[in-house]
Amino acid sequence: PAAVITIDGPTASGKGTVAHRVAKALGWAVLDSGALYRLTALAAIKQGVAADDEPGVARVAETLDVRFDGPHVYLSGVDVGHDIRREEVGNFASRVAAFPGVRRALLERQRAFRLPPGLVADGRDMGTVVFPDASLKVFLVADVVARAERRRKQLIEKGISANLDDLLRDMRERDARDTERATAPLAPAADAHVLDSSNLTIAETVQAILDFWQQ
Ligand code: C5P
Repeated sequence: PAAVITIDGPTASGKGTVAHRVAKALGWAVLDSGALYRLTALAAIKQGVAADDEPGVARVAETLDVRFDGPHVYLSGVDVGHDIRREEVGNFASRVAAFPGVRRALLERQRAFRLPPGLVADGRDMGTVVFPDASLKVFLVADVVARAERRRKQLIEKGISANLDDLLRDMRERDARDTERATAPLAPAADAHVLDSSNLTIAETVQAILDFWQQ
């Protein structure tokens, strides 16, 4: 099978940006697995399925009609690249990601991204569940205040004002849900390199991962 580098970690740890840059440096494809959970959430919201309706949301995940095309993401033919980034969608995604039926429905979809010459997969359980045989596993961490500040900067760049205390509370809730859930809780794989990016720039974080790969 094709080579895989997994990059897991908590929300706003910079995984997405770092994964894209590592993939670009190697000429590989990238899988943003969080987008699949967000797409499931958005589709459920659109279909009026409640976040506590486990079989209902699992069915939405099983029948998800999605297409990735470069930076674009289509849900049933509609470009939803912006919609899936909304905080409301992220929160809904974080809740339904705890459902085993949802995780099961998305498993093979994620594995299908593994094609030559290689894949950089970012998420929560890429190294533990989806690609346990990955060639390199990175667990990216950053202090919660650093992550809340990064998220606020991102939102401000999009013209959205956000309160740091609200973001911090939200992030702690999301961390708790990700780490405390019974199915695929957020934790580094036994063979993962744990990398703390609190005091690293994006370029330094990318270089650290490329150095691991070349070792
Ligand atoms: O990474 P992102 O914030 O886009 O992911 C949205 C939500 O999907 C996360 O809060 C997390 O609970 C869930 N998720 C997951 N497993 C993954 C990727 C994301 O449970 N591999």
